[in-house]
Amino acid sequence: MRLIVLANREPLRRVAGGWQVSVGGLAAALYPALRVGGGTWVAWDPGGEGGTVVVDGLRVVRVPLSPREVAMYYGGLANRALWPLAHGFLEKFEWKRAWWSAYEAVNRRFSESALDAGDGVFWVHDYHLSLAPRMIRERRPGARIGFFWHIPWPSLDIFSALPAAAAVVEGILGADLVGFHTPEYVRHFQAAAAALLGAEVGDGFVRHRGRTVRVVALPIGIDTEEARRLRQAAAPKAHAIREAAGGRLILVGADRLDYTKGIVERLEGFSRFLARYPRFRERVRLFQLTTPSRTSLPAYRELKKAIFAQVKAISRRFPGALVHRYETLGRGDLFAYYRAADAALVTPLRDGMNLVVQEYVVGGAGLPLLSRFAGAARYFPEAVLVNPYDSEGLAEAIFEVLSLDPEDRDERRSALLARARALDVNRWRDAFVGALVGEAS
Ligand code: G6P
Repeated sequence: MRLIVLANREPLRRVAGGWQVSVGGLAAALYPALRVGGGTWVAWDPGGEGGTVVVDGLRVVRVPLSPREVAMYYGGLANRALWPLAHGFLEKFEWKRAWWSAYEAVNRRFSESALDAGDGVFWVHDYHLSLAPRMIRERRPGARIGFFWHIPWPSLDIFSALPAAAAVVEGILGADLVGFHTPEYVRHFQAAAAALLGAEVGDGFVRHRGRTVRVVALPIGIDTEEARRLRQAAAPKAHAIREAAGGRLILVGADRLDYTKGIVERLEGFSRFLARYPRFRERVRLFQLTTPSRTSLPAYRELKKAIFAQVKAISRRFPGALVHRYETLGRGDLFAYYRAADAALVTPLRDGMNLVVQEYVVGGAGLPLLSRFAGAARYFPEAVLVNPYDSEGLAEAIFEVLSLDPEDRDERRSALLARARALDVNRWRDAFVGALVGEAS
């Protein structure tokens, strides 16, 4: 089987003298399946040159976009319309017809590049490319096509705010198999298909225009073996972090800078914790590790300012209790923080799944606090589940997680570890591809 993947981000990173396949995330997860059959990955080329690169047996077709297209397709429709809406942030949702036209044009360009790659099984990823399954189907009716939506699918009343709501659902239904992280997202998607297209829906399927599309909840995991290796290798760095903290208990938060991640609310909860439990003021240090993201968009720039101001205020009030690192850390450094940390604060306001909690479960030393509004909450019930909007509740939960009886903590940690292993990303990939290939189109 030859796999043709379509995803906005390319699975490459630059190294001296050329390219390497990316080490983390989706790229690393799909690579084994792509390599076996001489697969292709179609992605945006942020350099703008386009062309095909072959790296370690993987063919990457790079789609060049003009700056205007990037601003409208990626900066506009994908990240100012679909992203906020999917996460339930209606007040951040914006719509422009010109964005939609650019989104259609870019989806078409991706689809055509994928079709040009020859025969194979197509696997389209995420909200940037929701129209591609249908576009591919129109040109090649017998194709086998899978689609995975990696972010939440919101309830119908929220999704209906999108003027192109029906077209997005119709685009996705060009696939044979559609995957989401939770049964709740599946139900919301089916409700949208029924209400907006009059499709027939039932247990695990949507029937529309004479075709039956399977719709499944298939939660993504991390590469647990890789995480275990990173944890092992991180011992010396983790030791150095603990030494430098001078005996303080360590908390860690790690996120892309995004309003869905609840960083402001988390810092507020942490500040309340210190105010409420004075004996911890000199006994705890939170490392907030924030990766720059989508920096061209106003909402992200404003959030950055808010976080920096808050960090300053907290550091002034509670010297030494908070360290903010705003940079893209390497995997080795990230796992050193996990390993050093007595607890992790994983408190998004809404998250499709969340992989940080899974990385901490494998790589860390204690229990994670986990938002009820992350897809991961239903798969990791032994975490300390919190409502991230409730800063007093967060403050109490931080106290609770740092005061846990070690036996209780270790039991819960082992249960969580078993759950992370069961979700391993290699199983996720094989389960999706298996279901897709075993499927009649
Ligand atoms: C989320 C999306 C991904 C996206 C990532 C980083 O996880 O589901 O598709 O790649 O955020 O965002 P960026 O805009 O930098 O690609």
